Amino acid sequence: MIIDGKKISAEIKNELKEEVAALKEKGVRICLAVIQVGEDKASSVYVANKKKACAYIGIDSLSYELPTSTTQEELLSLISELNARADVNGILVQLPLPKSIDEDAVIRAIAPEKDVDGFHPVNVGRLNIGQDGYVSCTPAGVIQLLKRSGIEIEGKECVVVGRSNIVGKPMAALLLRENATVTVCHSRTKRLAEVTKRADILVVAIGKPLFITKEYVKEGAVVIDVGIHRDENNRLCGDVDYEQVAPVASAITPVPGGVGPMTIAMLMENCVKSGRL
Ligand code: GUN
Repeated sequence: MIIDGKKISAEIKNELKEEVAALKEKGVRICLAVIQVGEDKASSVYVANKKKACAYIGIDSLSYELPTSTTQEELLSLISELNARADVNGILVQLPLPKSIDEDAVIRAIAPEKDVDGFHPVNVGRLNIGQDGYVSCTPAGVIQLLKRSGIEIEGKECVVVGRSNIVGKPMAALLLRENATVTVCHSRTKRLAEVTKRADILVVAIGKPLFITKEYVKEGAVVIDVGIHRDENNRLCGDVDYEQVAPVASAITPVPGGVGPMTIAMLMENCVKSGRL
């Protein structure tokens, strides 16, 4: 089975569109503030896609495109202004930020109840102690891909490869919350293939193109590929060698069209959640 992230993300966005229309009937509007500092090309594409998704669903968006020369104080002062605005539900600061700005300080400055990226330590803490809060969008999207594809998580051996704050760590916490048995691997893991071969569900988020070959995968495993890269022919590929692994897996996400489209769908879900509260 190919897990179709394009289709599942479209389903979610359509559900949210209906919900936003119903909220509007009740006089509730949802507004996301999107901040980009500098002109990183990939960031500009992500930000444009986020604004497009807002427009599709009926969420208002405020756009702040700030120059690379923006100081940390200027950015913090904008965030503080947006924190105080009752008409702004969500604040998203696109990462990475220019080196002159302390990313952690910026993340901490966003009010946790407006932190639709789920990066604030309060939201990270809530996830890890089983309280409601905002969850990082990409791993939340992986859970939706599994659930909406009818793949059971409870009791499964799940192996997460990668331990980033944005994907690997929250992914592990979410799978644990779904009652899986969870192992987290990383660059210092010994005999990686032995560990990944135990996985019923293997989630790969390491940022190395085509790293996971068939030797890493158990026959019949579900394989979720969070990576996105361009290969030598300028074609998109993931952390998983799809050609090799697909015949071994019972279900797999393609790149593109797997996890990628889910991130924005879950960001939209978080924005709508802020209007529900
Ligand atoms: N840069 C790469 N991924 C993300 C994300 O999910 N959110 C934000 N704000 N920046 C990113």
